[in-house]
Amino acid sequence: MNTHSADINIGSADEASGDYREMLIRLMTRQLYAETATAEVFGRSIGAAPTWREKHMAAEFALEEAQHSQMLCDLLTDLGEDHEQIIANRPAAASFWNLDLDDWLHIAVFNFTVDRAGSQQIMEYRQSSYTPWADKMGVVLADEEEHYENGVDNLRAFAADPEQLARFQSVYNSMLPVAVKRAFGRPHGADNDFCLSTGLKRHSTEAVINRYLEEMRGYMAPVGLAFPPLSMFAAERVELAASTKTILESLQA
Ligand SMILES: [Fe+2]
Ligand SMILES: [Fe+2]
Repeated sequence: MNTHSADINIGSADEASGDYREMLIRLMTRQLYAETATAEVFGRSIGAAPTWREKHMAAEFALEEAQHSQMLCDLLTDLGEDHEQIIANRPAAASFWNLDLDDWLHIAVFNFTVDRAGSQQIMEYRQSSYTPWADKMGVVLADEEEHYENGVDNLRAFAADPEQLARFQSVYNSMLPVAVKRAFGRPHGADNDFCLSTGLKRHSTEAVINRYLEEMRGYMAPVGLAFPPLSMFAAERVELAASTKTILESLQA
């Protein structure tokens, strides 16, 4: 296989082979884990939501996440993989994202934190050299935009009350490190280089994480939400590039 990413264009499952196929399946598995765990979080949150408007929205988001999950199931099936087996190996949704599924505040923090992390990763897959995957990610991104808008609205509503903001901050401190780890993976190493050289991703993991955190900061700063202390990332064993640490340090409580 040619190693210049610009030259690589894989248009069907039959053409994906060797290390490329293996990495493709690993990346898709990561996304399938995230989409299915998120579908379960929103499904459960119908019960936790305080108003009908929010229950209806949770149901809508659960359906959309299920549709995203199904796209990944179909893509993995085309590659000869057993998606049921893959999903069966995923940690339970609550521990996967580190939240209490019955606590509405946890759901609100989740909605602000995780949906956008997913989108930032999906922006890369939309330009993937594996075109069957890239072609399906446009509609997924549109759904995620809507989820994130709701997450930002929720943050603003909670932040209007200092006591609620303090609770939001404390849940965010434990959720963001896990979200960074689950959604993006390690910033350096051979896998990252391989994804770039084969066009499976167009930006380094470090760049994607930084793009995500800078966007988050834009919504956090005006309402007084800070990044978790670096010690919270260390406790979760999240590997952080120096440039990422600088962003986190730029908005601390
Ligand atoms: Fe999704
Ligand atoms: Fe979402």
